[in-house]
Amino acid sequence: MKERAWIVDLPGRVGQEVVLLGWVRHCRTAGSRLCFLEVRDGSGDVQVVVREGEVPAAEFEAAARVPLESSVRVAGTVVAAPRQAGGVELKARAVAVVAATKGDYPLGKKDHGVGYLMDQRHLWLRSTRPRAVLKVRAEVIRAAREHLDGLGYTCVDAPILTPAAAEGTATLFPVEYFGQTVYLSQTGQLHMEAAAQALGRVYCFGPTFRAEKSKTRRHLTEFWMLEPEAAFADLDEMMDLMEGLISTVVARVLERCRAELDALGRDVGRLQTCRPPFPRVSYDEALARLAGTPAEIPWGEDFGAPQEDQLSLAYDRPVLVHRFPTRIKAFYMRPDPERPEVVLGCDLIAPEGYGEIIGGGERSSDLAHLEAQLDLHQLPRAAYEWYLDLRRYGAAPSAGFGMGLERVVAWICGLDHVREAAPFARTMYKYWLDNELFGK
Ligand code: 4AD
Ligand code: MG
Repeated sequence: MKERAWIVDLPGRVGQEVVLLGWVRHCRTAGSRLCFLEVRDGSGDVQVVVREGEVPAAEFEAAARVPLESSVRVAGTVVAAPRQAGGVELKARAVAVVAATKGDYPLGKKDHGVGYLMDQRHLWLRSTRPRAVLKVRAEVIRAAREHLDGLGYTCVDAPILTPAAAEGTATLFPVEYFGQTVYLSQTGQLHMEAAAQALGRVYCFGPTFRAEKSKTRRHLTEFWMLEPEAAFADLDEMMDLMEGLISTVVARVLERCRAELDALGRDVGRLQTCRPPFPRVSYDEALARLAGTPAEIPWGEDFGAPQEDQLSLAYDRPVLVHRFPTRIKAFYMRPDPERPEVVLGCDLIAPEGYGEIIGGGERSSDLAHLEAQLDLHQLPRAAYEWYLDLRRYGAAPSAGFGMGLERVVAWICGLDHVREAAPFARTMYKYWLDNELFGK
């Protein structure tokens, strides 16, 4: 009887004696002789029926008064209960409180606003919704890695402390480093370009940082990015990889996280259409589609949320936009040889107004062009000498992209804000949980 069981496995263990270890989400008494504990253990939730006389008297008393979120050890028999989720409940024989909650639990039954909940993130994580998001996030990571590993990509970790910018100097976080200034990495790309010349196809997946002064629902200052890089690959191959990666990730989440999507109230019909082929439009074609709408912009301007949202409305799946104007894109992008005013880059825009979730393309492999670009973008040459070395020493052309994890999770889960897609989000206007640092 002493074997620990996980709640997720209980439907297959009807009639067996098991021990559960978990937390009390809810406690309800029915008369003076019966109480129901709703217990979660991270794998699932189950109702525990505690009846006076079936457990020692002191344990019944303690169970009937157990405060919300106390941790408990429950021994009992798994019984069929067709009206319960999972079709089972536990008939208790022994209930021990491992650690009782002291005082009132800050997240009671009341409807709290997201602001309050974010301040209580360390406790809010225990609620159904954040738990479902974290499960989906874990599945997105697993599916994405499986996909790239399966294709023969090697995972190579990029450093976090870097001497230089890759995505513009305006969003760098400086760090004092033994009397010098270095920065938190905005992207692992430049290092992946070096690794791709060693291993052919590589990817990194780790935290990246941007001092974005953007208080939008799409911007975090710390986010995770998955960045594949492939030597000898071109833009079309990268668009194929983006499409394959995103459609596979969505399919895996639909297959493995249906209960979580249901708990989040996600309309899965909107995800089921996310199958290849994804529409591919050039920046010029996209502008033509935007003409006459409130999101119309002149040639040469970058997309913002209004353009991405307007464009995504026309499609039931992600859309790939390629060949953006050269002057609005990062220094390393390769100009289209047939039309140097645009680059061989591509953004993948999610449906339903979730915006850009992937950005990437071909890298310039021309040493003279890169040197000129560094000057144009006013980047300090010395910090990029190693990057230029790649071009000096036999570098094959390469291409790659970055997938923003939190934006993908926000879209798949149907969240209003990317802050809910990170376990502990950091944004410009709030450093959640450590507000005293900023004076609330
Ligand atoms: O388009 P970005 O800036 O591209 C790069 O960093 C390339 N170096 C990637 C590469 O080619 N290896 O960022 C890539 C993705 C965006 O599409 C978006 O999903 C996410 O990273 N992202 C952010 N997510 C949350 N908060 C922010 N402030 C983000 N900035 C970018
Ligand atoms: Mg981008």
